[in-house]
Amino acid sequence: MKSFHIITFGCQMNEHDSERMTGILEERGCLSTSDAAQADMIIFNTCSIREKAEQKFYSELGRLKDLKIAHPGLKIAVAGCIAQQEGSQILSRAPYVDLIFGPSDIGRLSNLVDRNQARTAPLVDITGDPGYHHKQIPATRVDKLKAWVSIMYGCDNFCTYCVVPYLRGRERSRCPGDIVAEVRGLAEKGFKEVTLLGQNVNSYGKGLEERTDFPGLLKLLNDVHGIERIRFMTSHPRDLSDRLIAALRDLPKVCEALHLPVQSGSDAVLSSMNRRYTRDGYLDRIKKLRTAVPDLALTTDIIVGFPGETQQDFEMTMQLLEEVRYDGIFAFKYSKRPGTAALTLTDHLSEDIKEKRLDRVLTLQKEISRQINKEQIGTVKEILLDGISKKGGKLAGRTRGNKTVNVEAPASLIGSLARVTITSAGLSSLTGQLCE
Ligand code: 5AD
Ligand code: SF4
Repeated sequence: MKSFHIITFGCQMNEHDSERMTGILEERGCLSTSDAAQADMIIFNTCSIREKAEQKFYSELGRLKDLKIAHPGLKIAVAGCIAQQEGSQILSRAPYVDLIFGPSDIGRLSNLVDRNQARTAPLVDITGDPGYHHKQIPATRVDKLKAWVSIMYGCDNFCTYCVVPYLRGRERSRCPGDIVAEVRGLAEKGFKEVTLLGQNVNSYGKGLEERTDFPGLLKLLNDVHGIERIRFMTSHPRDLSDRLIAALRDLPKVCEALHLPVQSGSDAVLSSMNRRYTRDGYLDRIKKLRTAVPDLALTTDIIVGFPGETQQDFEMTMQLLEEVRYDGIFAFKYSKRPGTAALTLTDHLSEDIKEKRLDRVLTLQKEISRQINKEQIGTVKEILLDGISKKGGKLAGRTRGNKTVNVEAPASLIGSLARVTITSAGLSSLTGQLCE
């Protein structure tokens, strides 16, 4: 195999897993190509968090059938969450697939490719490598300034709607020493920002021999010379400790931005989702956060139309959005997932109700985001200039709160921090002027 092409669906975790697969394959001398028709192997890195993502994958996979007929030597691989969920069942829908492996098998990719080359029958290996979280895996990163760093894998929470714990397994944390070494290596290569990844970063450290919790890890990374900014995702509200709030307040490199999925504003729905916090408990955390870090940019995830969600439950979510005033949200219609506890709940809602509720949530949030962005006008922000703006001729950068700012500045400033005065604001980006 000389060349490969990776098609990635889903979250940042998957994006980063694809960077790792690229790193592993390049290390064995293969070349990444952006043209699927030129590749000797096409890898789908799949997502199964919602049904829609799954449908999208199967339709893309179906389109490759002709390519495979035209190039019989072409190998097609399926990785990620659908591979883990479906295993060899993928072959009954797409018998032309050659290799199927799960998210915890990525560290063995080179070996899987060798084993697959040596045979004509498809190879399915989703057993998972129990030592995966201790492996040092190369990564070819898409960005040159900002890097994702996995700090833990899996999730122990079992929210009743979610497939992740079944597909990505129990929580396993990487050793702090390995993470610090990776971040030091990134700093040496000129990276300025890291985003720490995990399904539930707040419970980082469970089961580690060295007793380091997530705030402790942040402290270690804050000391890495050359790294200017640290972000992380995702946090579970139940595990948001006072120590973490203090870390957000006190560690200069930890950005004032937090993604804290609430999912619903109704206690009845939260309980049925097995979120293990209440609306008041969540709001209390937000109050503490805002007191400690007044500039904090908050984002969240919302699920509308969870089984049994009444109109009143839904209105509680709307009110919560107005009360918290998030900078941005990701909102989804509840989607039935195989093997999850929510499937067995009665009172599943119609697509029409879900659609209407989603629409109301998004319309409300649009107004709030626009308002919050407007409030930035006249303020001075530090931005990391990271490239050319999509809005012609300007550079683009991000504030510590992760908002995009377009600014007139020389390209030589790309990669550096700059102070800008915000002069105008739209829904998805701000415009600024460089300070003297
Ligand atoms: N249906 C809809 N949204 C879901 N999410 C996870 N599982 C489902 C599901 N079955 C959403 C949650 C989570 C985000 C990553 O995806 O909001 O925080
Ligand atoms: Fe899924 Fe809940 Fe774990 Fe997030 S915390 S990955 S929503 S089970």
